[in-house]
Amino acid sequence: MNNIIEFVKKELAFDHSGHNFKHIERVVKNAKYLIKHEGGNEKIIITSCYLHDIIDSKLFDDIDLQKEKIVDLLVNNHYLPSEIEEILEVIDRISFSKGNIDECYNLNIEIVRDADRLDAIGAIGIIRAIEYGTSKQRQFYEEANLEYNESNISFKESTNTSLSHFYDKLLKLKDYMHTYTAKKMAEKRHEFMLKFLEEFYSEIK
Ligand code: ADP
Ligand code: NI
Repeated sequence: MNNIIEFVKKELAFDHSGHNFKHIERVVKNAKYLIKHEGGNEKIIITSCYLHDIIDSKLFDDIDLQKEKIVDLLVNNHYLPSEIEEILEVIDRISFSKGNIDECYNLNIEIVRDADRLDAIGAIGIIRAIEYGTSKQRQFYEEANLEYNESNISFKESTNTSLSHFYDKLLKLKDYMHTYTAKKMAEKRHEFMLKFLEEFYSEIK
């Protein structure tokens, strides 16, 4: 596992869009907690968590090259062909955009997905959304997309702001968790984002 950690650290060393190694470590930690309560194959899950952002087209131009690097790494570290195949499948299936939420997944995929999604919500999720938006030179919000009425302000429509990302994705994630344990963890993080938005609107007002 140390060789895998060193590889991932090097690959993500220059990321400023919320995918740095701290994100990976938190996902691994979430996954270990989920495994304790839900089961699953620890070797497949933890390896997939470490490698899950290494084949992301948002971060790397040459996806085939990234895949080759992962296969070499796993072969050199004595993973079986069947394990390598499963890890590549897990990584391929975890993205929010790629997955049909009603599709049936196996437990290993579900745990990696839940672990990754938990890191997109709550206090950490707020930080990452702002980091990501900043890395793309996006505003957090624009006045044109806020709707004022007598008692409060609300968000009017989806735009290219980080605030819109809360409505496009982050506030939906709690309903997309697969495992019971992740659903429970997501509730608290979801409530915190709602409080954050409420306070944000009240300060703007
Ligand atoms: P994942 O690693 O789960 O595939 P993404 O790569 O989609 O997640 O996003 C990484 C982080 O950046 C997440 O915390 C996500 O919420 C945030 N993010 C992604 N797209 C946007 C966006 N358009 N605006 C703000 N934050 C975003
Ligand atoms: Ni991730």
